[in-house]
Amino acid sequence: MSFNKIKEVIEDGDIVILYLNPNNMHPLEVKAKISNKKGKIIDNVFNTAYGALRVISLIGQKYGSKVELTRGWAYVLQPTPELWTLILPHRTQIIYSPDISFIIHLMELRPGSIVIETGTGSGSLSHALIRVIRPSGHLYTFDFHEQRVSIASTEFKKHGLSNFVTLKEKDVCLEGFGEELKHKVDAVFLDLPHPWLAVEHATVALKKAGGKLCFFSPCIEQVQRTCIKLICEGFIELHTYECLQREMNVQYKLLPILDLECLKHKHTTEDIHKNEKEKQEKLLTVTHSHSLPGHTGFITIAVLPPSYARKKRNTFTV
Ligand SMILES: C[S@@+](CC[C@H](N)C(=O)[O-])C[C@H]1O[C@@H](n2cnc3c(N)ncnc32)[C@H](O)[C@@H]1O
Repeated sequence: MSFNKIKEVIEDGDIVILYLNPNNMHPLEVKAKISNKKGKIIDNVFNTAYGALRVISLIGQKYGSKVELTRGWAYVLQPTPELWTLILPHRTQIIYSPDISFIIHLMELRPGSIVIETGTGSGSLSHALIRVIRPSGHLYTFDFHEQRVSIASTEFKKHGLSNFVTLKEKDVCLEGFGEELKHKVDAVFLDLPHPWLAVEHATVALKKAGGKLCFFSPCIEQVQRTCIKLICEGFIELHTYECLQREMNVQYKLLPILDLECLKHKHTTEDIHKNEKEKQEKLLTVTHSHSLPGHTGFITIAVLPPSYARKKRNTFTV
């Protein structure tokens, strides 16, 4: 139940994160026994490069505390959607925290929001959406892949999140989101290979008062095609963004100090250079890193106006 609320002490059944270093974290289920690959029930002992841990010994330890391994130590952390995104078992490509936070901001989600997400994939975005909309909101998440739906369902249960999420196995492009969600939702998020095929279904699910549709696509051709469909269906205020993180290098550098007196008296360029060499000072500088992390995807947001103000179009050419 450790995703559900902030806790002080680890209890039986919790999911905890064993933190060895930023690149070495593991989710552990706190229980005495597990079944091994051959299906045999064995003691739940987790092995790391710094020795083993009897997982059940974590019960009663404080979250954030340092725990002993047989040849070293680690920290035990309470899981957050951000940490889960870093360590979750990948079934698909996932959306990462910088894009997730921007998506949540663009859709203006808050406690109480009713949201549709498709596809569920590995549940990376779902965990972050649930944290924002609970306790009074609800996430409806769809995927047409049976096994992914089943694993995500087990994870939501284990993480104590079942009350805030409904997971359905469905091809939303063919079948839509269902009669029960007609004009019920505040926002629709699409992470699909063919998002344009779900746009019309989204207009049915969004509230009559309007709402937001956001989609994530790695290719600009998917963005173009979906934007045309959005405009035809009456969506307005379309914006596409790319979220790129740029690192800053902060370092001391020896820099020449400009001699303004020298400039004032119109000395020769050689004089100025000579002066610059003599007068140098160590200064704290900030520069952009030369490398840029790679492209993840384009994030597009669009607004559906209230039904009385909507203007549908049959065609749209740029
Ligand atoms: C890239 S993954 C989504 C990853 C997810 N956003 C995350 O952060 O973990 C795309 C998912 O969409 C599902 N999908 C593709 N087309 C679909 C459709 N027409 N209806 C429902 N699910 C679909 C796939 O099975 C896949 O699991």
